Amino acid sequence: MVLAANANAAGSHVGEWRHPDAWERPAANLQNAVRLAQIAEAGKFDLLFLADGNGVRQLDKPDLFRATSPSDRPGVFEPVTLLSALSMVTRHIGLVATATTTYDEPFHIARRFASLDHLSGGRAGWNLVTTSNPEDALNFSHAEHVARDTRYERAGEFAEVVKGLWDSWDDDAFPQDKESGTFLLPEKVRALNHKGKHFQVRGPLNAPRPPQGHPLIFSAGQSEAGKDLSAQHADCVFAIEGNLANAQKLYADIKGRMLKFSRSEDEMRILAGVTIFVGETEEEADALFQQLEDLVSPAVGVDYLSKMLGRKMKDYPLDEPMPVFEEEHVGHTGIGKGILRLAYEEKLTVRETYKRILPQMGGNMFKGDAKKIADTMEEWFATRACDGFMIAAPVVPTGLERFIRLVVPELRRRGLFREEYEGSTLRENLGLARPARGG
Ligand SMILES: Cc1cc2nc3c(=O)[nH]c(=O)nc-3n(C[C@H](O)[C@H](O)[C@H](O)COP(=O)(O)O)c2cc1C
Repeated sequence: MVLAANANAAGSHVGEWRHPDAWERPAANLQNAVRLAQIAEAGKFDLLFLADGNGVRQLDKPDLFRATSPSDRPGVFEPVTLLSALSMVTRHIGLVATATTTYDEPFHIARRFASLDHLSGGRAGWNLVTTSNPEDALNFSHAEHVARDTRYERAGEFAEVVKGLWDSWDDDAFPQDKESGTFLLPEKVRALNHKGKHFQVRGPLNAPRPPQGHPLIFSAGQSEAGKDLSAQHADCVFAIEGNLANAQKLYADIKGRMLKFSRSEDEMRILAGVTIFVGETEEEADALFQQLEDLVSPAVGVDYLSKMLGRKMKDYPLDEPMPVFEEEHVGHTGIGKGILRLAYEEKLTVRETYKRILPQMGGNMFKGDAKKIADTMEEWFATRACDGFMIAAPVVPTGLERFIRLVVPELRRRGLFREEYEGSTLRENLGLARPARGG
């Protein structure tokens, strides 16, 4: 079972940062990040994951903006920069950063992640996103967000170019032999000469071939185009579904698409995003949950729901059922649609809906004692709902420490999780083959 740790310094609950156990002063705090990475590595986690966007969000939702929502990250490090620093204080754990194909260039991204792979000795991963926050466009000379179809078309070509650039050099292209005066072997480099619809990139990349051949590509698209992109290019997929049946459906859907790209299912790991509230007892887990809920006012909760659905919810009565919207007009992401589906299926009110999504950012939540959590994780893993989990702690760092202290031994006892790292690269630890250099 793959375990990834969400490295967001503000946990995964809107009330998190106010909790007495939460980090003091979590905005752009290097010491906290180092500590978190070392906790996750001591727990033998496969990887640390840093989500990202390129803009400050929620300026128009005053209550939420003041209180901050973890996924908005208004005061954070640029993720590859931070992971480069963390590569020097860790030895095993994978380092996965988000970067956008919509507002960046393939050469920059290929270069950045090749560098991170070299710095970390083969532990880099790129979470390929097309940017989920529409307003990020305003920071990149666009009046509005690029349409999804175009974003994914560009993303597909982008990924091809990045992989091509990572294959610029043979693995043994740099003998750096002082004696013979041969720094590099010219016959072992290839310009890319890519000329496509979105990009013209000559190459080659100014970095040796990365230790992993290709740093891992992660993706989390839930739309048709997003799932196709994952099936074609992703080594790992972050999936968020609120219950087992929907997670199984998504798993089968994404893996089922791989064949048409001549890939087999075991070339990909699907990680279910989940926030885990674990206590020594069920009551302790419930108490933590309630404590966090009480730190969020209804005004912040409704603003948060508005954000997740991509539409204003302020004017709807809190204790009436969620209004029915035409699905295709709602939300700009699959996440928004998933929240609505949940609200309709379970006949939730507006208040109940925001309360349901607060702790897990529109995703999923497991709550209980260690046995109950391990039972659920085992069930998801064994019934092909996922190959592992991307775990967010409700309170950072204590939530992660508690998971490692209480749940990890239970997973190990069942033979579901490692005692020691198997390999030295992220690919090796995930059991994914190193790609041969493309032709
Ligand atoms: C676990 C998870 C993490 C994500 N992290 C980011 C992120 O850091 N930045 C971002 O712009 N989008 C992020 N997304 C959004 C996805 O990239 C994607 O836009 C979203 O799931 C909707 O899918 P679609 O783009 O195919 O509509 C994340 C999604 C999930 C499920």
